[in-house]
Amino acid sequence: MFNNFVYQNPVKILFGKGQIAQLGKQIPNDAKILLTYGGGSIFKNGVYEQVKQALKDRNIIEFGGIEANPTYETLMQAVELGRRENIDYLLAVGGGSVLDGTKFIAAAIPYDGEDAWQLVTGKAKVKQAIPIGSVLTLPATGSEMNFFAVISRKETHEKKGMGHPLLYPAFSILDPETTYSLPQKQIANGIADAFTHVMEQYMTYPVNAEIQDRMAESVLQTLIAVAPKTLGNPTDYEARANFMWAATVALNGLISVGVPQDWATHEIGHELTAAHGIDHARTLAVVLPHLLKIKKEDKSGKLIQYAQRVWNLSGTNDELIEGAIQKTIDFYESLDIPTKANAYGIGQETVDKIVKRFEEGKVVLGERHDITPEVVGEILGMSI
Ligand code: NZQ
Ligand code: ZN
Repeated sequence: MFNNFVYQNPVKILFGKGQIAQLGKQIPNDAKILLTYGGGSIFKNGVYEQVKQALKDRNIIEFGGIEANPTYETLMQAVELGRRENIDYLLAVGGGSVLDGTKFIAAAIPYDGEDAWQLVTGKAKVKQAIPIGSVLTLPATGSEMNFFAVISRKETHEKKGMGHPLLYPAFSILDPETTYSLPQKQIANGIADAFTHVMEQYMTYPVNAEIQDRMAESVLQTLIAVAPKTLGNPTDYEARANFMWAATVALNGLISVGVPQDWATHEIGHELTAAHGIDHARTLAVVLPHLLKIKKEDKSGKLIQYAQRVWNLSGTNDELIEGAIQKTIDFYESLDIPTKANAYGIGQETVDKIVKRFEEGKVVLGERHDITPEVVGEILGMSI
């Protein structure tokens, strides 16, 4: 059934060439800003200078070194700095990791409990947050227009998602030209991540939600069409702009209103990153095809629709289902992203550990809540 929904997305998007120049107008003049960034890409591609130019004469301190798969350990240093300096605005400049990490910092600075990790596990509620703005330099996660953050903890090898409406950025600046400096591998990762985000919200069972389905299909088709163009010519502005906006729309909440969602691929993928440090998007490619094979009966309605509408396949229902799964595998592989976990040397030992962790947490996944730890074992078993 097409479910009831409430949809409100407050993020202001400033999209296109030169939009970083608008930064000054987005942040109150008297704000004390903490600018957060990652490992230094922003110094090499000119983004840092553009940001500083747009915020001349403003009160800014900086915190760098937020790593890919941002860690609680690193972020707590930023929290201490932000508290000590009494900052009242956060500006994240970088990819999804910097944005996610900054969302955690925004929630943790005003948090008065003992253990800020509880904000990630959900044991403590986010009650206040420092306002956030962002300059996105890597299309992939949708973090620029949603309220989620995925935070890792080194000490315990955990990777967990948190989310709260207070963590929506107030604004996000998306200039496709800032992404020209991305290595091919990160572009491929971004395409695969955005593609999988759509699949998590679309590849469930039909509820006659025509707008959501057709929007999801158009994002998938855009990613499929744009992938070879933007990989082949990194400075093709239009290809890059289409990719960047597709990645945002893939996870800004619009295509998931009123429909069932899966997210098992992401939950399993996060465990693979936590255990082996594999790039987020790459974990998704080693899970989704095998999940589709195992759940192909439950997902048959949507697999057939996806085969026909996204891949223009024809044939019997069985042929359409097999064809759709094969096309999905071929798409990831076309990005040079393997679809087998054994490509990363992952064996049964890791599978057993993940299954055990899900058993201990009594985790059940999927749109029908029937992907039990045992099924997770089957999916990963097929992947190794
Ligand atoms: O750290 P720097 O030096 O900036 O380099 C980064 C990093 O090494 C580099 N990079 C970013 N922009 C660049 C650039 N290099 C050159 N030129 C540029 N313009 O790219 C590397 C990867 O960056 P990262 O931010 O880690 O990548 P991504 O945007 O893919 O983010 C991945 C993280 O987001 C989480 C993932 O789990 C992972 O932790 N996710 C967040 C979601 C959300 N908030 O809704 C949903 C996603 O499913 C995902 O789970
Ligand atoms: Zn993702």
